[in-house]
Amino acid sequence: MPVAAVGPSDPPIPDLTDQQTFAGGMPYEAFATLRDRPGLYWQPTTVSTQNGGFWAVTRYEDVVAVERDVESFTSTLGAAYPTMIDADTVSDARDSILMKDPPDHTRLRRAAAMGFAPKVVAHFEPWVRDIVRSQIDAIRDKQRFDAVEAFAQTIPAHVIARVMGAPADRRAQMVDWVKVIFGSTQQHDKADLLDQDRPILNMGPIIEEVSRFSLEIQEIKRRDPDDDMFTALSGCVDRGEISQSEFLMWMFVMMAAGYETTNTTIAHAMRMYLEDEQVRDATDTALDEGLIECAVGEYVRLISPVIQMARTATRDLEFAGEQIRKNDVMVLYYAAANRDGAAFSDPDRFDPWRSETQHLGFGTGIHRCIGMSLAKLEVQLLFEELKANDLRLRLDGPPKRGWSNFVNQLLALPVARA
Ligand code: HEM
Repeated sequence: MPVAAVGPSDPPIPDLTDQQTFAGGMPYEAFATLRDRPGLYWQPTTVSTQNGGFWAVTRYEDVVAVERDVESFTSTLGAAYPTMIDADTVSDARDSILMKDPPDHTRLRRAAAMGFAPKVVAHFEPWVRDIVRSQIDAIRDKQRFDAVEAFAQTIPAHVIARVMGAPADRRAQMVDWVKVIFGSTQQHDKADLLDQDRPILNMGPIIEEVSRFSLEIQEIKRRDPDDDMFTALSGCVDRGEISQSEFLMWMFVMMAAGYETTNTTIAHAMRMYLEDEQVRDATDTALDEGLIECAVGEYVRLISPVIQMARTATRDLEFAGEQIRKNDVMVLYYAAANRDGAAFSDPDRFDPWRSETQHLGFGTGIHRCIGMSLAKLEVQLLFEELKANDLRLRLDGPPKRGWSNFVNQLLALPVARA
């Protein structure tokens, strides 16, 4: 694995573009080295960059500063590494909220914001709880099973299908379809990554498939409107507030963002709970105290399901002691910033009672995750229901990590009844 030395006494920094760097787990030691040294780290690469590399931003305050300065750092040239593009590239993804700056971002966000507001999401609790219970019922007679398949994949897939408003008779199809499509973006090893037929390298056909499905449902909702995202966003198209292409990208982003990240959170949260006695005791106490929401916040901080998002400099400027050039890519490592000792005391410790709760697991600034309340509700209700059903589990083999320098994937978590 290629490495770069930082200072004479510092440990070498692994290649942050190489998925293998993340295959065995997050490179926390390298992140700590980068956080502690002055300035920013320049990761050389010609892949998905215009100026021969990117700046690795690892400190909490620097990540916040970049995300808040939307004039100096744009999202329009890509929102995560390695899917950055230049100004001339034609891509459907340009119509997604993730790749918009104000005023387009404000307009697109307004279209869906109400549907995910905390007060609205609080009303979802009964049906999300039903979904969680039915998944627990489905494994009731099993002595051993894969918790990723049983809970982490299935709960978010069913929830997002319902929020979006896939008609009941199409929901199972959509759930399977979401799992297959987004499951296929997970690399299991280097051979997968190099296989040109893998959808991760060519998202065009997938976007087309999602688009066909979305168009079909859009027509159904026009005839038969309901209280869901397909109906709400379709209404925005009909009123001229968003374009048809923006509608289709909204649907694609919602499926991707709503499924893969929550899947990752549930998978790792269960792994941490089963692996680490301190995490288990703290979670159980938080449950008893009615503070499970705070425990979920800690899971998201420590897991950092989205490892990084990225921005591009719109002009030459000085930032964090470095001379940034126009078109320089800034990769914002939430996984590093969320364990920054300058922002969190005893940062590696799982502590649901900590006073520093402003973690960056959901990002910050104008692009802060719109589905935050929904995701937290899903994880919270799973822990509540596992306890209410007295479902005691233990690890039954090594968890299997995915290969990604974008999402902190867990592909399998074998468990057995304790
Ligand atoms: C634990 C689960 C989740 C995590 C960790 C997560 C994380 C994130 C992060 C890091 C961002 C980008 C923030 C930025 O660039 O500053 C984001 C944006 C977004 N997320 Fe989530 N997310 C989760 C669940 C969800 C769910 C359930 C939905 C449901 C629809 C969702 C929808 C979105 C959307 C639409 C955006 C773009 C917002 C914008 O650009 O204004 N996410 N999320």
